[in-house]
Amino acid sequence: MRGMILAGGAGTRLFPLSQVASKQLQPVYDKPMIYYPLETLMSGGVRDICLISSPHDLPIFQRVLGNGHQWGIDLSYEVQPEPGGIAQAVIIGESFVKQEPFVLVLGDNIFYGQTGLKSLISNFGGGAAIWGYRVQDPQRYGVIEIDSSGLVASIEEKPDNPKSDLAVPGLYVYDGTAVSRAKDLTPSDRGELEITDLNLSFLDDGQLSAVELGRDVTWMDSGTHESLLESSAFIAAIEREHGQKVACLEEVAHKMGFVSRAEISETIEKMPQSPYRTYCERSILG
Ligand code: TTP
Repeated sequence: MRGMILAGGAGTRLFPLSQVASKQLQPVYDKPMIYYPLETLMSGGVRDICLISSPHDLPIFQRVLGNGHQWGIDLSYEVQPEPGGIAQAVIIGESFVKQEPFVLVLGDNIFYGQTGLKSLISNFGGGAAIWGYRVQDPQRYGVIEIDSSGLVASIEEKPDNPKSDLAVPGLYVYDGTAVSRAKDLTPSDRGELEITDLNLSFLDDGQLSAVELGRDVTWMDSGTHESLLESSAFIAAIEREHGQKVACLEEVAHKMGFVSRAEISETIEKMPQSPYRTYCERSILG
């Protein structure tokens, strides 16, 4: 299955940091934020990935990530001229998805732990699949109720009186109808094509299912100064405790069998001497 990663948006909440670089290029501890959603896709077995960003930032992503071949994946790029909403970016990816099912991940969403994406992809039978993550402040998110058969019973955007504490993280699997459904949406009051409206379109047809993320998974959205700092602190603590890096894409690529030992060794040789390189040498080359 193909994957789309959304790295556009205005990043207004991260001003003035977002003047220096887009939100998804900001550091989350020791890597650019975009590495984490890339890991989410790669760990799900997704190797054909389209990254969508603004005209200003796209060239930087291209320089930082290249064509992805160093990680055994194919990275392509599309421009979103203005931040017209997450569902608008789905339309921009039309020629990439070719009416086939695809995974969509938001470039500022970090998942630590098993999302179950790989098995969801293997068993995907159409419609749309999203995730639910228990939070203490559901009023800040899209909130869902899941019925006993795994279908979504309701979805509400930032409700005052949430019907559950299950927030919707930025990871979605859609069938090929998603693009035409997105084209049928009308912009919201803030002038954006909303992802919740796209999900509602599947819900109205009884085709929206959801999986609750287990307690062993941590989900972080790094769109504010506080959450960015918390994400960095979390990743630093995990890496220190486990002696292993999170979202070391060379390691992920090797573990997933996307690249051979010889290929990854060549990639590592091109890295400057750095703690990251030393880690790759130790963890992958042994
Ligand atoms: P948001 O955090 O909702 O929006 P934003 O990135 O513009 O930030 P702010 O609210 O502070 O202005 O976006 C969630 C993710 O979706 C983020 O990774 C950026 C991406 N996105 C796009 O790629 N295109 C868009 O038009 C929008 C709105 C978001």
